[in-house]
Amino acid sequence: MSLSDYQEIRDMVSKFADSEVAPLAHDIDHNQQIPASLISKLAENGFLGSYIPEEFGGAGMDYTSYSLIVEEISRACASTGVLVSAHTSLCVWPVLAFGTEEQKKKYLPKLASGELIGCFCLSEPNAGSDAGSLTTFAEDKGDHYEITGMKNWITNGREAGLAIVFAKTTKTPNYKGISAFIVETASEGFNVIKIEDKLGIKGSSTAQIALDKIKVPKENLLGGYEKGFRVAMATLDGGRIGIASQALGIAEAAFRYARQYVTERVQFGAPLANLQGIQFILADMSTKIAASRLLIYEASRLKDLDENYTKASAQAKLFAAEAAMWIATKAVQLCGGNGYTKEYPVERYFRDAKITEIYEGTSEVQRIVIAAQELKEVK
Ligand code: CAA
Repeated sequence: MSLSDYQEIRDMVSKFADSEVAPLAHDIDHNQQIPASLISKLAENGFLGSYIPEEFGGAGMDYTSYSLIVEEISRACASTGVLVSAHTSLCVWPVLAFGTEEQKKKYLPKLASGELIGCFCLSEPNAGSDAGSLTTFAEDKGDHYEITGMKNWITNGREAGLAIVFAKTTKTPNYKGISAFIVETASEGFNVIKIEDKLGIKGSSTAQIALDKIKVPKENLLGGYEKGFRVAMATLDGGRIGIASQALGIAEAAFRYARQYVTERVQFGAPLANLQGIQFILADMSTKIAASRLLIYEASRLKDLDENYTKASAQAKLFAAEAAMWIATKAVQLCGGNGYTKEYPVERYFRDAKITEIYEGTSEVQRIVIAAQELKEVK
């Protein structure tokens, strides 16, 4: 795809984000819910199946286009941005990358149309960063598996119709023995027991899910028996680009708002923007945004070329998340007392930015991944 193709996609999503998403963002945050009508519009515009091939009902775009979509939607509303990101990176992608032909035919068209929203059930109360220590168990019952366990912090848990569930098929203390399964959430025993009340991205549902002897057909094993940790790690490599794009969208929104504000806010007889101290902050915000964007494009480009992008995606997420948090904090500061109130959107950007340093691997986990990749280069 050419640069002008990407520009066209950005313009199209940007218009959608400004007209259909941004006007709802305050209420989505306040009501802690994304309206079903907005999710339908995301699907109608192809944003839920952006890189699903056309033969499976998707828009047939590439990963770079998907990153642009998440960025632009997150600029308008970070909760809606992560609904798209978790659905696409964490559910669509593993089915596309590891699914059998039958699994793809059965599930991808429904994921593209929004009939099924996806989620990713890896984390557990005692298995967060140490994902390999999960204890959910899938017992072989002959013609099916029976899955029992507890899953935590599941984005889209309330809306999801399809879940990628990780469970041990052999009881081991580490990642060995983990298998991945495609699970329909309508299955008996799939119980959402809690929706978290969070600091930010309040419209995005974060669920605790109890899995109580769910029957999963053998053909829903994903990516091979006891190959689940590989499925999880490879999926998160791509997911991290999505979260970096979400962080970039939040950072861009916070920057644009603060930039406008300082040109209008008059103190000591002149707009704040006349002060060099304020200009230096704007310059640093702008530079961090530019650097985040380049890291995200590079990681997306490597993914589209099918080259190794483990380090690039971790770097993009680490940098973009920390940049977003810094920029959102400065945006509140530049807007002063006004910025601290709910009448101004910067306090929402500030609350929303924080999660990007936590989910799909904390900033500390990204550093572990980057350092491990660098040390592999030592001969
Ligand atoms: N791609 C494919 N395979 C990979 C891989 C990758 N990027 N990284 C590691 N692996 C494989 C390794 O090759 C190894 O397999 P073999 O033994 O067969 O060679 C295996 O995985 C174990 O690798 P490590 O020894 O590096 O694994 P570890 O146990 O030390 O863990 C870790 C490393 C980076 C800390 C990892 O556990 C991790 O990423 N933790 C964070 C988990 C995370 O991001 N959780 C978020 C969940 S999703 C979420 O946030 C909620 C949501 O809904 C959005």
